[in-house]
Amino acid sequence: MKSGNLIIINAAQLVTCSGSTAKKGAAMKELGIIENGALVIEDGIITRVGSTETVMADIDKSLYEVVDAAGKAVLPGFVDSHTHFVFGGYRAEEFSWRLRGDDYMDIMNRGGGILSTVQATREATPEELYTSGYQRLTDMLANGVTTVEGKSGYGLDTATELKQLEVMQAIDSHHPVDVVPTYMGAHAVPPEYKDRGGAMIEAIIQQALPLVKERNLAVFCDIFTEKNVFSIEESRRLMTAAQEMGFKLKMHADEIVPLGGAELAAEVGAVSADHLLQASDEGIRRMAQENVVATLLPGTAFSLREKYARARDMMEAGCAVALASDFNPGSCHTESIPLIIALATLYMGMTPEETITALTINGAAALDMADTIGSLDVGKKGDVIILKDPSYHFLSYHIGVNVVERVIKKGRLVMDNRHQLLNQ
Ligand code: NIG
Ligand code: FE
Repeated sequence: MKSGNLIIINAAQLVTCSGSTAKKGAAMKELGIIENGALVIEDGIITRVGSTETVMADIDKSLYEVVDAAGKAVLPGFVDSHTHFVFGGYRAEEFSWRLRGDDYMDIMNRGGGILSTVQATREATPEELYTSGYQRLTDMLANGVTTVEGKSGYGLDTATELKQLEVMQAIDSHHPVDVVPTYMGAHAVPPEYKDRGGAMIEAIIQQALPLVKERNLAVFCDIFTEKNVFSIEESRRLMTAAQEMGFKLKMHADEIVPLGGAELAAEVGAVSADHLLQASDEGIRRMAQENVVATLLPGTAFSLREKYARARDMMEAGCAVALASDFNPGSCHTESIPLIIALATLYMGMTPEETITALTINGAAALDMADTIGSLDVGKKGDVIILKDPSYHFLSYHIGVNVVERVIKKGRLVMDNRHQLLNQ
């Protein structure tokens, strides 16, 4: 996507989230706010940040698109660092079964759940996956999301995993939102590998991972470390091998059962461990020590009616906490950032400031990109959102409602949510 030259002036609050690394523990409260702020973006990169008066002192306005944010808060674009947005089919009936009391893992163990999306994704053409994935990314952009991590994992066989990753690569090159791809061939055990998870991991290491690497289709490698899915030993084997091949690591850890996933993420030096509903005290301590970003996904706990991750304990232990949607067709079919913020504040005890850090600079850190996105600092990508309201508090206060008015990606205005009445 092309980059632009743009100036934003008169931001009632310029919420910079300033920083180039993850914010840990108490530092998550710091938002680096500049009142009546302004910023300049040149060729898609932020070149000046400060008060409107100082930033505009010697600027030739005719060279830029000028956006007047009078009376509004301006923030970095959100980073949704954990999603599964490329998939075939839907699981609307499964949601009704779960409402009626069926268990998420039981549904998967009888061939539904993730495995039913695997079937639909294997059958989908690349064009179908592209069209639906592209539209989902646009819906995320409307929520203020400017960078999205996307996982494969609905193929499980090498051909379909590569198909998912290639679709993500194609979407990335045409859509304003940046896509960071993750290979997650170890997302579930398909019938052909039933009770042979170890053999599946070996096949991934020998066949799939080298191809993914050779074709440069993924930055991260991820695994579902869970009872009846992949064990700690199998996870250690895959994570270590993937790291040796040059992949960065993520883990779905301690989601349903406390298996020691957080501890393993710390041991192998994962960039993030995600879910963590059941993470132990020791796992939390080790993540803080080893700088593993704790990526919490409250939409999933909400949708599965599980207890929420212990965000406060994690921050008190000195962890960097990120928040993400986990958008997927099963356990969490929502891309709603407003819902994630509402759950984080009202049910996980996070402050409005902490939720913003978790969705910006710490989301960037969960992708190992805190040096290029996630804050309004000179040298970073010009990814910016303008709210409808004068302060960042409205993100949590206006419960479950999208208060993002406009989105700027690499210095270009790409989304305007101001609704217009038709046929008046
Ligand atoms: O992050 N936990 C495993 N994987 C996904 C769910 C995927 C699905 O249900 O389709 C998750 O929740
Ligand atoms: Fe997930």
